[in-house]
Amino acid sequence: MSAWVSDTIDAVYVVAVLVFILGLKAMSSPVTARRGIVYAGIAMLIAVVVTFFSPGLSNFALIALGVAIGGLGGWYWARVVKMTAMPQMVAMFNGMGGGAAAAIGAVELLSTLSNQITSSLSVAGAIIGSISIAGSMIAFLKLQGWMPSKAIVLPARQVVNTGVLVVGVACGVLLLWTSNFVWMAPFFVLLLLYGILLTLPIGGADMPVVIALFNALTGIAVALDGFALVNGPLGDAGYAMVIAGTLVGASGSLLTFLMAKAMNRSVSNVFFSAFGATEETGVTMKGSMKPIEASDVAAMMEYANQVIIAPGYGMAVAQAQGKVRELSDLLESKGVSVKFAIHPVAGRMPGHMNVLLAEAGISYDKLFDRDEINAEFANTDVVLVIGANDVVNPAAHRQGSPLFGMPILDVEQAKNVIVIKRGQGKGFAGVENDLFYRDNCHMLYGDAQAAVGKLVAALKAQ
Ligand code: TAP
Repeated sequence: MSAWVSDTIDAVYVVAVLVFILGLKAMSSPVTARRGIVYAGIAMLIAVVVTFFSPGLSNFALIALGVAIGGLGGWYWARVVKMTAMPQMVAMFNGMGGGAAAAIGAVELLSTLSNQITSSLSVAGAIIGSISIAGSMIAFLKLQGWMPSKAIVLPARQVVNTGVLVVGVACGVLLLWTSNFVWMAPFFVLLLLYGILLTLPIGGADMPVVIALFNALTGIAVALDGFALVNGPLGDAGYAMVIAGTLVGASGSLLTFLMAKAMNRSVSNVFFSAFGATEETGVTMKGSMKPIEASDVAAMMEYANQVIIAPGYGMAVAQAQGKVRELSDLLESKGVSVKFAIHPVAGRMPGHMNVLLAEAGISYDKLFDRDEINAEFANTDVVLVIGANDVVNPAAHRQGSPLFGMPILDVEQAKNVIVIKRGQGKGFAGVENDLFYRDNCHMLYGDAQAAVGKLVAALKAQ
């Protein structure tokens, strides 16, 4: 292939990078996020198509078949997935990326073991990719509810995990050193095992950090494999992987740190402390959960100066955001100030509440982060908690609680707290919530959409 074609391919990769970066930039605001997704899709399409022209590439029919299976599968699942099941899907797709990176590492090792640079990169990509696919699959099973979501702690965990990692990496080094494929199987088996062991002791409210970290690791593994390809016989074909992998690795790492900060934890603490492994014992709830009628809540809100709405996972399950918009408009038409308190890990994915409220047409300037709004609760007449539990659980202030240290929305400080939920169900972390038993708290039982609908009807009738 002429140098001219090769240069053109490289130039097209640069275009793809620019479009990827534009996409990421657009995703940083809910207003332009949808456009960002389209840009990123176009960039990926450009990168995939131009890769077909890379020198040395063969087996086009097989590659096209792979693209068709992956593309159609991804398109179908993304269309049918419920918003609340998004984290599982992200975990699954992450895992596939990690698995692909590990597989490419294996193939590269089989074909280029004599080249030390390429093989070292492939081993590094395979290590990270294997840990990522195995860990992501455990995260998927936990989020899907197919295994207990709480931390599972095995005896001598730290020693066993470190041992498995060290021996696994040593097998990789021996593979490079001796060029003997006998080390390949134990290398992959041990690193996959490490991914599982690393993720088992993480549970409850820490899952957002885990998903973000495996996302970042997958990106790094893909980028390392891309470097290996660029150094190997396929040359140009690795550029797309370097580009996409680096962007995913960088943005995933940032997201990991943001999520950890939202939980007031360090990333190492999330991964190595088995926080939340124990049930809280010796804590008994004082008082009782007091039910209230929709008409009484409507009257309370109508005479309030300010109502703050704190939404959570239950609002997403019930798809209540449209009714919440109606309620907010109605209150404002009656002269009540309405604000929304958004916790960074409310729901089941980063920005979950922002996406749902934006979908319902609620203006972004009514949405406030935890840091912006926490001081306002004490001066607020009514806080309406809609399907949120962990993110408003004062147990986070209690030492020994699995939630201890997690920053929460301090809704309990409001004059009146109304909680909409269906019954006695616990939150994702499985911790009892004493907010519900406090004197200033009343429960409006029911599905969030139906309950908010009742509030709207009662307000209209008043
Ligand atoms: P949760 O703590 O999960 O509580 C949700 C509450 O909603 C439950 O107590 C449930 O009680 C109620 N509910 C469920 N379906 C409902 C419906 N149809 N109508 C009304 N209420 C309903 O939610 P949260 O406060 O938003 O906290 C999120 C949790 O998920 C955190 O622990 C977080 O760490 C974790 N997590 C977050 C993410 C991200 S990135 N956001 C990802 C993975 C995990 P009833 O059963 O009694 O109705």
